[in-house]
Amino acid sequence: MPLYSRRAALTVAAVLALTACAGDPEPSSSPSPSDTPTPSPTPSPSPTPTPTPPPTPTPVPPPLEWDIDSGASLQVIVNKRRPLQPADYAPQLVAVSIAQDGDERVRPEVDQALVALDQAQRAAIGEGVFVFSSYRSYATQASIYQGFVNQYGQAEADTTSARPGHSEHQTGLAIDVVGTSGVARLSVAFSTTPSGQWLAANAWQHGFVVRYPNGLEGITGYEYEPWHLRYVGVELSTAMTQAGVATLEEFLGLPAAPNYG
Ligand code: DAL
Ligand code: ZN
Repeated sequence: MPLYSRRAALTVAAVLALTACAGDPEPSSSPSPSDTPTPSPTPSPSPTPTPTPPPTPTPVPPPLEWDIDSGASLQVIVNKRRPLQPADYAPQLVAVSIAQDGDERVRPEVDQALVALDQAQRAAIGEGVFVFSSYRSYATQASIYQGFVNQYGQAEADTTSARPGHSEHQTGLAIDVVGTSGVARLSVAFSTTPSGQWLAANAWQHGFVVRYPNGLEGITGYEYEPWHLRYVGVELSTAMTQAGVATLEEFLGLPAAPNYG
């Protein structure tokens, strides 16, 4: 599988400043007055100058490499223009360890990160993270999408629900969350709650990104979903955050995916 490579922008903060130069002459001292002429000293051999070692080069980190194509990759990119391959790919899953609706499952790496996310949020705001949707099979996604189509029509459904084969939930890497208080579950108003605000500011530290940010549906294909977190790993979430880029498509230089083309 091809690897998508991107070199993270690194600030090289270590500047070696040579503050002393071996060639600088010592300041000359004034001769002390003396009545007795002193014999001129036997010239001693001048010491061999010690060469200044060259500065140790700052190690250049390897390029960050992400496989954005394989369903099994933690960095797989799935959107309206990039179907999951195969469309019914089924990941290895574990039960979610934190508060949930029941029977929620994710990839093992995601569960580990969720435990840390939950603890960090509890420590910060006194409220944990609650998972109300996680892995969905192709069949489950097909059923959910069809429900939206039946209720709102296809055009409206496409702004909020992915067609089967195009949902991040099928990767086991996406979760829908609310605070354990349950306030503003599955609502844009979640973004104004303590949990929604804390997650928007801090989820990246645990490898998650808010996948469908406000006002960027022209890129992601979906209206604002402050509750939908996507696990991408700490390396990628940190690089995105440091770059100040809100969507995976923009950060990875991928085409916008506003529709199915
Ligand atoms: N709500 C997101 C886009 C999904 O259905 O996967
Ligand atoms: Zn979701």
